Amino acid sequence: MKQFLSVKDVPNLPILVNEALSQKRNPFANKQLGKNKTLGLLFFNASLRTRLSTQKAAQNLGMEVMVMNVSQDSWGLEMQDGAIMDGDKAEHVKEGAAVIGQYCDIIGVRSFASLTDKEKDIQEEVISQFVKYAGVPIISLESALRHPLQSLTDVITIEEYKTKQKPKVVLTWAPHPKALPQAVPNSFAEWMNASQVDFVITHPEGYELDKEFVGNAKVTYNQKQAFEGADFIYAKNWSSYTSYGQILSKDPAWTVNAEKMKLTDNAKFMHCLPVRRNVVVMDEVLDSPNSIVIPQAGNRVWAAQAVLKQLLSSI
Ligand code: CP
Repeated sequence: MKQFLSVKDVPNLPILVNEALSQKRNPFANKQLGKNKTLGLLFFNASLRTRLSTQKAAQNLGMEVMVMNVSQDSWGLEMQDGAIMDGDKAEHVKEGAAVIGQYCDIIGVRSFASLTDKEKDIQEEVISQFVKYAGVPIISLESALRHPLQSLTDVITIEEYKTKQKPKVVLTWAPHPKALPQAVPNSFAEWMNASQVDFVITHPEGYELDKEFVGNAKVTYNQKQAFEGADFIYAKNWSSYTSYGQILSKDPAWTVNAEKMKLTDNAKFMHCLPVRRNVVVMDEVLDSPNSIVIPQAGNRVWAAQAVLKQLLSSI
């Protein structure tokens, strides 16, 4: 693997999933692989899980880790090539990324969608500029369009908990007070389409995801129908893609509750976290034995470790 920006960068998904589960069984088996190698983690946005799990994964592989909250701690980075830099940005990404590439063997970048400029978001400007100028492999820690470390984690978690060869996995939209990016549902859909699952997406009208990510999924506006016979319920809010970045609904009828979970085949409940209790999902579901959100978050370490191991092996 040369970079990790999407499922398209993964040469063989089952091998990567098995690698993650192998790292989980034996976390320190490859402690020598990352010796004298440095991982840089750059955050343009907040994080709990991605930051800590990726750091831990790197440490398990013997790497040194440097973390920077770019928006707060560094110079404002100009992303546009050819810009006349007479505004508030003090450094161009052309130098900034290249310099960080002098200090780090692998760089992770988190930069969310603006939700105000659809074209710029689609171009994934920040992560693309790091790929162009850093000179070392780049890992997406969540970009404008995708969150591949989360999605690999979700694939691993489904693999661990599935009781059928081809489980029914339902991605359901749920309400939220703020406008959130489409990166998690986009990416989840992309990875589910690459997995052996019966994949269904349900959301209110107006919340259609980009066709590129929906792929072969069945899509329905009927949440209860979608839940019937499901083995995994994956809840997530996202803002509208067609009315870009807008909140079209906060309808609590879409909140995941125990009554809806009864329609499933004793489904496991998943969410990438952080989650708004009693808005996205009721306490009765999140605190039930069927909720696997904590082991799911725990698996973030093994997803990151498998990716770092493959990247380290190719540099
Ligand atoms: N799920 C996830 O990426 O969590 P953080 O935003 O806390 O990193």
